[in-house]
Amino acid sequence: MRRRKVLIFTAVTILALIAAGVSPPAMAQPNFAKVKEFRIERSIPPEAVACIECHKQTSPGLFADWANSRHANANITCLDCHLAQPGDQDVAKGHDAVYSRKDLPYAEAKYKVPVATVVTPKDCSRCHPDEVTQYSKSKHANTIEIMWKLDPWLNKGMNSDNERKTGCYHCHGTVLAIDDKGKLDATTWPNVGVGRLNLDGSKGSCTSCHSRHRFAVSEARRPEACDSCHLGPDHPQIEIYEESKHGTIYHAFNDEFNFKAAAGTWTPGTDYRAPTCAACHMSGSGKVTGTHDVTERISWETQAPLTVRPQDFAAFPSGTDWKVEREKMKNVCLACHSDAWVDDFYHGYDKAVEEYNEVYYKPAKAKFDELNSKGLLDQTKFFDERLEVEFYELWHHEGRRARMGVMMMAPDYAWWHGFYEVKLRFANFMEEANHLIETGQKAYIAKDFPNATGDTTRPPKIFGGK
Ligand code: HEC
Ligand code: HEC
Ligand code: HEC
Ligand code: HEC
Ligand code: HEC
Ligand code: HEC
Ligand code: HEC
Ligand code: HEC
Repeated sequence: MRRRKVLIFTAVTILALIAAGVSPPAMAQPNFAKVKEFRIERSIPPEAVACIECHKQTSPGLFADWANSRHANANITCLDCHLAQPGDQDVAKGHDAVYSRKDLPYAEAKYKVPVATVVTPKDCSRCHPDEVTQYSKSKHANTIEIMWKLDPWLNKGMNSDNERKTGCYHCHGTVLAIDDKGKLDATTWPNVGVGRLNLDGSKGSCTSCHSRHRFAVSEARRPEACDSCHLGPDHPQIEIYEESKHGTIYHAFNDEFNFKAAAGTWTPGTDYRAPTCAACHMSGSGKVTGTHDVTERISWETQAPLTVRPQDFAAFPSGTDWKVEREKMKNVCLACHSDAWVDDFYHGYDKAVEEYNEVYYKPAKAKFDELNSKGLLDQTKFFDERLEVEFYELWHHEGRRARMGVMMMAPDYAWWHGFYEVKLRFANFMEEANHLIETGQKAYIAKDFPNATGDTTRPPKIFGGK
């Protein structure tokens, strides 16, 4: 049985202010308190009424976000997401005490329920099972495992745990833990990284793109939803998008785009005239169905040192067929472009991948291996010898920028930040490497490499063990 819509909000402030003779400019001032009247129907559980009424006072910003969400509109309350389930380890320990505070509304023992702090994909899956299943297969959800299988910073302990918490894990996600006082461990929380490993075993945090408590598709469809992570020297997707023709059209016309189209109905041409990140990678378009698995529609691994097909990516084989995925992406393009335009674009992309692999990466890798096999580089640590850094930046910075600039139509990234820099780096790397090989001299090891203190144990919750 579906409960009736229960919440009616009226903007009483405006009327009250006009009645009081306050002029409109004063109302438009920043930080002017926005009070909403709020009526609750009987069908809402009293415990949920208490959450709403008390938090409306203690955290009005949070309340307003929820009140403006589709969830509030559909009668989904705080309890639906935060009610602790049996066995939950993240029950907010101090929360019971709020029910005996004299200064707060609805602070009565009869409303008391255990509240979970963390709201996970498992909690959302009760109502959104498809999104959660798709998401759980993606690289987003599985990135902690991928990171630990590949990354020299982690595996060689070359940065500190706090550098990881505030940097790497902010984007990739932490492994949540409980400290000895029974609270969420502050070295792992707060966190909304894409692959956060939750205490209930589920992976990810849906708030990476749908920030709480609005949980809006209109936010996730904009490129800004992705740009907190997809940027910078090593994966500059937002910068690339900004300089592509698609990005410039987005900026010129997005006030005409209809980002609020109902979920699953966002249509190229009708609702937007240039694609955003979500339009190409996630939303449905024509024959292509929408997906929460961003690994779909991809035919190359351009973040990897040697570009390979997604099914051949050893750390996380996609289980997809790259030809099928490429057809899906092409179908997205075809809503606005002709076959020839799209095929010719892919021709340039494949060629760039081939040149990067064959002309730059493979010879540099062969030289790097030679240095190691001749004992001219020391393999105990990474980044403490200059050539290790040079080799890393060749594929991880310039080499990615070149491939990624091409793959998303940004000529300045393809060339000036990309292949041009790859060439310079390659030439310097080869010169230094050949010098060591010719003279038989061992590379200088930086003895004072700073803050190389990070834990090198792979997370047991993912890899097993203690
Ligand atoms: C009587 C007031 C009151 C009621 C009723 C109330 N809360 Fe709270 N809640 C608070 C206060 C105050 C805090 C901040 C406590 C703190 O930071 O120590 C809080 C904190 C929280 C937190 C954050 C906990 C954390 O560990 O970070 C969550 C989540 C939360 N409340 C959810 C709820 C839900 C869901 C309900 C209804 C089941 C609810 N609250 C009912 C006052 C209330
Ligand atoms: C659709 C699910 C959902 C609903 C409904 C919901 N929350 Fe949340 N809430 C979340 C998520 C997700 C987070 C972020 C925590 C996380 O990443 O796990 C959160 C975080 C919070 C926090 C901690 C915020 C902070 O920054 O410290 C509080 C407090 C909270 N919610 C209270 C409420 C209250 C009160 C309501 C009802 C008015 C409510 N929530 C409704 C999902 C929900
Ligand atoms: C600003 C957010 C952000 C920070 C900070 C960050 N990363 Fe990433 N990382 C990403 C994104 C986004 C990608 C995906 C790049 C792509 O596929 O184009 C990525 C990719 C990776 C990959 C490659 C995964 C693969 O599929 O091959 C590894 C490994 C990795 N990061 C490890 C780290 C480590 C370790 C740190 C800290 C030393 C770190 N990252 C810091 C966002 C970040
Ligand atoms: C990488 C960004 C991203 C993450 C993370 C993400 N979403 Fe979404 N979500 C989107 C986008 C983009 C859309 C809009 C698709 C469209 O245009 O129809 C969307 C739409 C939705 C919708 C509406 C879809 C419909 O057809 O009814 C739901 C529900 C949803 N997401 C739930 C979730 C849940 C649950 C999670 C966590 C498992 C999650 N999302 C994580 C980007 C994301
Ligand atoms: C108790 C059921 C329930 C739970 C739990 C729930 N949702 Fe929803 N959600 C709904 C319903 C119902 C709607 C559709 C509202 C409407 O009619 O537009 C919705 C809509 C959405 C939308 C689309 C909003 C839009 O702008 O159109 C997103 C995104 C979303 N939910 C994300 C989440 C996430 C993320 C979680 C977990 C943190 C979650 N939901 C938990 C029931 C739920
Ligand atoms: C909170 C950080 C974060 C946000 C926000 C985010 N991503 Fe990611 N994304 C990552 C990380 C980290 C990876 C790398 C995962 C890996 O390979 O280990 C990644 C990888 C990807 C990949 C590569 C998948 C593959 O199989 O190679 C795509 C495509 C992608 N993201 C698209 C998006 C889109 C589109 C959005 C916005 C709608 C978005 N992401 C939002 C962090 C984020
Ligand atoms: C015009 C469509 C389009 C738009 C818009 C777009 N992308 Fe892409 N993206 C692509 C194509 C095409 C590829 C290459 C797919 C392949 O390998 O076949 C790609 C690849 C990627 C990859 C995979 C990199 C890897 O690991 O190999 C990531 C991550 C990514 N895009 C993120 C984003 C983000 C974030 C945005 C927005 C800032 C965005 N994309 C906007 C079309 C688009
Ligand atoms: C929603 C419509 C739409 C979608 C989807 C779309 N594009 Fe475009 N694209 C455009 C428009 C509009 C232009 C501007 C053409 C012009 O310059 O007049 C454009 C321009 C381009 C350009 C030219 C860039 C330049 O700087 O000259 C390329 C290449 C391109 N798109 C490739 C693609 C590919 C590949 C895809 C799919 C992965 C795609 N587009 C998806 C609308 C779209």
